[in-house]
Amino acid sequence: MKKSRILSKLPRHVAIIMDGNGRWAKNKGKLRILGHQAGVKSVHRAVNFAINHRLDALTLYAFSSENWNRPIQEVSALMTLFIRVLENEVEFLQNHNIRFRVIGDIHRFDNRLQECIRYSEDVTRNNDGLTLNIAANYGGRWDIIQAVRSIAIQVKQGILHPDQIDENTLRQFICMNELAPVDLVIRTGGEHRISNFLLWQIAYSELFFTDVLWPDFNDIIFRDALYAFARRKRNFGRTVNPSNYEENFC
Ligand code: FPP
Repeated sequence: MKKSRILSKLPRHVAIIMDGNGRWAKNKGKLRILGHQAGVKSVHRAVNFAINHRLDALTLYAFSSENWNRPIQEVSALMTLFIRVLENEVEFLQNHNIRFRVIGDIHRFDNRLQECIRYSEDVTRNNDGLTLNIAANYGGRWDIIQAVRSIAIQVKQGILHPDQIDENTLRQFICMNELAPVDLVIRTGGEHRISNFLLWQIAYSELFFTDVLWPDFNDIIFRDALYAFARRKRNFGRTVNPSNYEENFC
C-alpha cells in the first residue's frame, strides 16, 4: 500500500495494553520494577510517535483494577514510579502541547499521587495537541458501572425516565466519551485478550497483538500496527458495498 494512502487511513485514537515488563526484566535477570522502569522509556517513545503521526488521542493501560492483587512491594514500587514520572514529565507535556488525563478510580491512590494527577491534569487542561489518557486503577467493568450509577442518580432525581435510556445516554457517562472513538487497540506481550481494558469503547475497534514485550516496543512495531490498521476494511456491521451483496455473499 502506498505511503500516501496509509497516511490517509491513520487511526485517530490508539489504545495500548502495555504488557510484558515483568518478563522483560526476568529475561535479563533483573527485578520486575526495572522492567516497569524500562517501560517508562517505551511510554516516552510511543507518545513521541503519536505526536509525530498526529494522533488525536493515545490511551495507555498503566494499572488495572486487578493489579492491586500483585505483591505489595511491586504495587508500591509502581506507585512511586508513577509519582516520579508525573513530577518529572509535566514540563514535557506542556512543551508538546499534550493534554494529560487519567481515567479510572483514582481515589484509592495515596494523596500524593492523587495530587500529582490533579496537578498534571489542571496544568495541561487547555492544551489542544495530543490527548494522553492514562488508565490507572481502571477497569472496563468499573467504567460501565460508574456510568450506570450516574444514570441511576438522574432517574432518582427525575431528570431521566427509564424509557429514555439508550446507547447515547450511556455513552455520555462513559470515560473518554468526548474524544474520537478508539480506532485501534494494541496489546504487547503475546497475550490475545482485553483484560478488562476499555469494553464499551472498543466495540468496533481494530485489534493488533504483538509478542514484543512492552519495554522493547518501538516505532517500527507501532508503524506495523498502523499499516495493519490501514489495510483493514472497517464495516461497522454494515455490508461492504450493498450493490455487490449478491455477488459476494449469495
Ligand atoms: C504490565 O506488565 C505492565 C504494568 C502492569 C505496568 C505498566 C507500567 C508502565 C509501563 C510504567 C509506567 C507507566 C506510566 C504511564 C507512567 P507486567 O508486569 O504484567 O508484565 P508480565 O506480564 O511480563 O509479568
